[in-house]
Amino acid sequence: VARESFGAVERLRGAPPGSVSADLAELARIGSSPGAGIERTAWSPELFAAYDWVARRMAEQGLAVQIDGAGNLIGSWNVGRGAAIVVGSHLDTVPHGGALDGALGVVAGIHAVRLLRERGVVPSRPLRIIAFMDEEGTRFDTALFGSRAFAGDDLSSLGDRLDGSGISLREAMANAGYDHRAVGSARGVAAVHAYLELHIEQGPVLSADGIAVGAVTSIVGMRRFQVELVGCANHAGTTPMELRRDALAGAARISLALRDFVRGRSCVTTNVGKLSIEPGGANVVPGRAEFTIDVRAADAAGIVELEDFVWETVRSVARDERLESRVELTFSLDPVQFDPSLIEAIERAAAAEGASCRRIESGAGHDAMVLGQHVPTGMIFVPSDGGVSHSPDEYTPPANLELGTRVLATCLQDVLSRER
Ligand code: GLV
Ligand code: MN
Ligand code: MN
Repeated sequence: VARESFGAVERLRGAPPGSVSADLAELARIGSSPGAGIERTAWSPELFAAYDWVARRMAEQGLAVQIDGAGNLIGSWNVGRGAAIVVGSHLDTVPHGGALDGALGVVAGIHAVRLLRERGVVPSRPLRIIAFMDEEGTRFDTALFGSRAFAGDDLSSLGDRLDGSGISLREAMANAGYDHRAVGSARGVAAVHAYLELHIEQGPVLSADGIAVGAVTSIVGMRRFQVELVGCANHAGTTPMELRRDALAGAARISLALRDFVRGRSCVTTNVGKLSIEPGGANVVPGRAEFTIDVRAADAAGIVELEDFVWETVRSVARDERLESRVELTFSLDPVQFDPSLIEAIERAAAAEGASCRRIESGAGHDAMVLGQHVPTGMIFVPSDGGVSHSPDEYTPPANLELGTRVLATCLQDVLSRER
């Protein structure tokens, strides 16, 4: 929903110059338009303009800046020896997004470097701040693209994915100066010792209870599907109701069946978030519907059950409505549990900074769920005012943004000192 005002960013703008909040307010200008929040989709000029801005901030902190073959922006503090500690998140946004989802983790990572330098900490290992490409996956249904490439997943089959205007991922990459065949060169996880990510909660729990920091224990598993239903476009006034093959009616029944299946259960969700119908006339029966399904569950058995339910529901509704159906599983990631010693390190850091802290599960996906399959990983949440996110209205009070950043820096310091 487009907004008349953009109050959340205005409220950040009042923070002292040079603070995390003021930097986030400045970064929020890139890709924002009046009334529509912020939009920086994967491989877009807006996203690369944000990269330029962040790269300058990285360089100011003495980091060596590069962009790898998957479009991940990496700032390196090349000190110490051995595998690196990586702090990451993302700079891409959902359509009509806000100023904090992803951007906080990157900006806070740079400020954590500043704090470590101010505290005289010389890391025993290299420290890298990474903005991963296309975490959201909005444009090509290629969520977590950069972190998956960094983890060494084979993404070569994704080049043909099309965006809403018919441009393929391969073309979008080429237009930005990247070669889809070179994505494999971004593999870098073998040189990572541990991964940390600071993010807004994107849910209501911490804000409602007045807790400053969440030590994240796990992230839900996810499946995403692309579904096509084909019926028969026909005259809306003359085609008898019982003879119609209405693709939208089929899509609506599937969406509601999914909703009813998970209602009343905890830790499972379903969502139909993109839908298009053709031919698109008020007086024409919809002959074709195309839509996405996103399902999530906290445990492995739950995600398997949900996935089976999607396949079976599409099949049975299509048969009942006399529609042809095509289903493609476009994204699949299992639930991840975070590293117990990093959860404890986050709790210690919160205590050291005087921040109230509680353990919390994440229903949102993050780059940490990819890294967490490979290396010890921890995530820090700060409260989302009113639990609002994926919206221009997402907001966290500046005091909480600064406190979360200090907790991140102190946690890094703790992790680094424990290996001496
Ligand atoms: C990312 O924000 C997701 O949870 O899909
Ligand atoms: Mn995010
Ligand atoms: Mn997001």
